[in-house]
Amino acid sequence: MAAILNIDDLERASQLSVDKMTWDFWAGGANDVQTVAENKAAFSDYRIRPRYMRDVTAVGTKPKVDLFGQKFAIPCGLAPSSMHKLAHPDGEIATGRAAKAKNWPMAISSYSSVSLEDAKEAGGDSLLFFQLYVFKNRETSTDLVRRAEKAGFKAVLLTIDSPYLGLRFSERRNKFTLPRGIEPGNFTNGRYAGPIDFSVEAKSKSKGPGTNDDLLQEAKPNVIDPALTWNDIKWLKSITTMEVWVKGVMTAEDAELAVQAGVDGIWVSNHGGRQLDGCLPTLHALPEVVAAVRGKVPVHMDGGIRRGADIFRALALGADFVWIGRPVLWGLRYDGQKGVELAEQILEDEFKLAMALSGTVSVDQIARAHLSKNIRGN
Ligand code: FNR
Repeated sequence: MAAILNIDDLERASQLSVDKMTWDFWAGGANDVQTVAENKAAFSDYRIRPRYMRDVTAVGTKPKVDLFGQKFAIPCGLAPSSMHKLAHPDGEIATGRAAKAKNWPMAISSYSSVSLEDAKEAGGDSLLFFQLYVFKNRETSTDLVRRAEKAGFKAVLLTIDSPYLGLRFSERRNKFTLPRGIEPGNFTNGRYAGPIDFSVEAKSKSKGPGTNDDLLQEAKPNVIDPALTWNDIKWLKSITTMEVWVKGVMTAEDAELAVQAGVDGIWVSNHGGRQLDGCLPTLHALPEVVAAVRGKVPVHMDGGIRRGADIFRALALGADFVWIGRPVLWGLRYDGQKGVELAEQILEDEFKLAMALSGTVSVDQIARAHLSKNIRGN
């Protein structure tokens, strides 16, 4: 394999070394995988309007706003994704160390392959968000939240786009199951009745939404609760002193309801195209959310970011911060902690160059005026 020069190289290198079931699990999205492709393609719907002759000798990539009082290297972080041990035996420990080493923020999934406590120890101050699914058995979620608070997480990140699991054909065809020795790290040792079952055998017998067996965990108490509404934000806030953020907001309407419900931050996401296929690409959902929120809470986004210039474009459209999902897994597969650090370095260098070549020396200078809605597709 030639040198890894960009995130696409990292993707190819990791694909070469990983089994098909895992690769399909990462690459896959719901149904026709339209949204996975469009998340990425949406970035070329905006072209950058560069400004020159502005002395770009020194370019700083530090975010314009602190995150929980911390200054990170760049307004980009490592998004939560399940089961990092599928990529590397060190799992989220390696990811956490890579976040800490490069001063990037990180979020960890409820379905991590090491415990949230062990991950927090590895990630230190970089590991900010505990991503939460609310289960039918509320006690499970309450306990997870309490554990996260005790471990020192700053915020609980409630994923709202998954009342049911998206229909992913590749996972079904492969009969995706976790390999022996890899298990959901927060649910081990008989903790919580009915540990999370990652087998999709159950799903292949699906009768669809409403029957509750269209989920990862058939007939187990720890299935995601599809009855969740904005009223439940109150409940979540009542059980923790951590900030409460929501991940998966895709419309101005929901952004307003989220702010009214008292969330501390909004994360625009469509789960990397793994849930509702055919929904808007996140870059196109971002402007309406930013407009609806009117600066009341921070707006973050993820989906399809593969280049420094993508980070630039999302910030120009009003995101305070962006996050990468799959590139983390590709880096982790390629070379564990060092591979994730490589992904971080690539994006940092590219972002800095994109800033310099468009005439911005600090992140707060990146503005809507740096973009034009493009020419090609209008
Ligand atoms: C995810 N994502 C995700 N999100 C979440 O809230 N909880 C989770 O457990 C997971 N798990 C997960 C597994 C895998 C394999 C992937 C690829 C993604 C979604 C993730 O946080 C993020 O929204 C997207 O990955 C961002 O899109 P990109 O950067 O992958 O295009």
